[in-house]
Amino acid sequence: MKTFLVTGGAGFIGSNYIRYMLKKYDDIHIINLDKLTYAGNLDNLRDIENDARYEFVKGDICDEEVVNRLTQRADVVVNFAAESHVDRSIGRPDDFIRTDVFGTFVLLEAARKHGVEKFIQISTDEVYGSIEDGSFKETDPLMPSSPYSASKAGADRLAFSYFVTYGLPVIITRCSNNFGPYQYPEKLIPLFVTNALEDKPLPIYGDGKNVRDWIYVEDHCDAIDFLYHNGTDGEVYNIGAGNERNNLEITEIILRELNKPKSLMTFVKDRLGHDRRYSLDCTKIRNMGWQPSHSFDEAMHDTIQWYVQNRWWWEKLKSGEYLEFYKSNYQMAL
Ligand code: NAD
Ligand code: TYD
Repeated sequence: MKTFLVTGGAGFIGSNYIRYMLKKYDDIHIINLDKLTYAGNLDNLRDIENDARYEFVKGDICDEEVVNRLTQRADVVVNFAAESHVDRSIGRPDDFIRTDVFGTFVLLEAARKHGVEKFIQISTDEVYGSIEDGSFKETDPLMPSSPYSASKAGADRLAFSYFVTYGLPVIITRCSNNFGPYQYPEKLIPLFVTNALEDKPLPIYGDGKNVRDWIYVEDHCDAIDFLYHNGTDGEVYNIGAGNERNNLEITEIILRELNKPKSLMTFVKDRLGHDRRYSLDCTKIRNMGWQPSHSFDEAMHDTIQWYVQNRWWWEKLKSGEYLEFYKSNYQMAL
């Protein structure tokens, strides 16, 4: 039986990953280390919180003591913990540098000290920066353009350096934009779906023509597990599903599915340093035999319906500090 230390497991992708792994494997133990920032939410794991194979520890990946204590028990570390919202990184980069860079360093040190079997660093396609035409390969240079993506690039290369320098068995994944259940309603899709359900404006940055390559979160989780079994230490793997859509297209899908008027579309001041397009070349992982199993249209339908049916989950998140952030970010109240 393997013990996985999953950091940031109370967030969007981490919680989906824990659920995915518990469903797939009987003989597994998962320790979820999460600080429970504004984005961490134990409601994301309500259905599995009493599973004997699962344990939750509230703590910070920057805290050497707790990280050492838990890493000592782990065979595998999967590092999801991060500050993850570009808009917040523009207003206040401090926590991004602290958690995304320094926190990853603390984890890497502990993993080295305790000799883990695998360290999976969850990086992002945003480390490459924006691309007008074509798609990024794993060997392309990193040109991150937000404090978020720059912090993630720092962690990505730091993880690589632990492979080269100390022989730590590190795998680095760079996935494109995820969507699915339990995504905090500050990100494009859950924000627009929940605003539309409340007949509130959908704030579109700039001209709405920025392009992202969307992947259903379960496919991302599946790819991480595939790479745990089949990846080579020290290698970087792009993960994407080839669903490039601009923000206007995403908005229209949401409005159509919910039968809401286009008048909810509201153009607002562009995000500073807004990357125009992300695009990944995923030939490497495809040639190894992995491919996504969800179609974009069906996964979008299921995701939107999940938010329709789970108001209990998101309604309470849109209060307090969220409303303050919203007002200062969008220059309008929710
Ligand atoms: P999220 O913001 O929903 O979750 C982040 C989690 O990390 C939260 O539960 C939070 O409480 C926890 N956390 C934050 N700081 C911590 C700290 N110091 N110690 C312990 N826990 C801490 O983010 P997400 O969208 O689930 O992203 C997870 C990871 O995947 C991140 O590393 C992100 O960079 C990466 N990623 C995200 C996407 C995407 O589209 N969301 C795409 C590619 C890669
Ligand atoms: P986001 O979900 O924040 O992911 P990322 O910036 O990390 O790719 O944003 C996705 C796209 O949607 C991006 O081009 C910015 C745009 N966007 C808006 O137009 N309005 C919004 O309110 C948000 C949150 C995002």
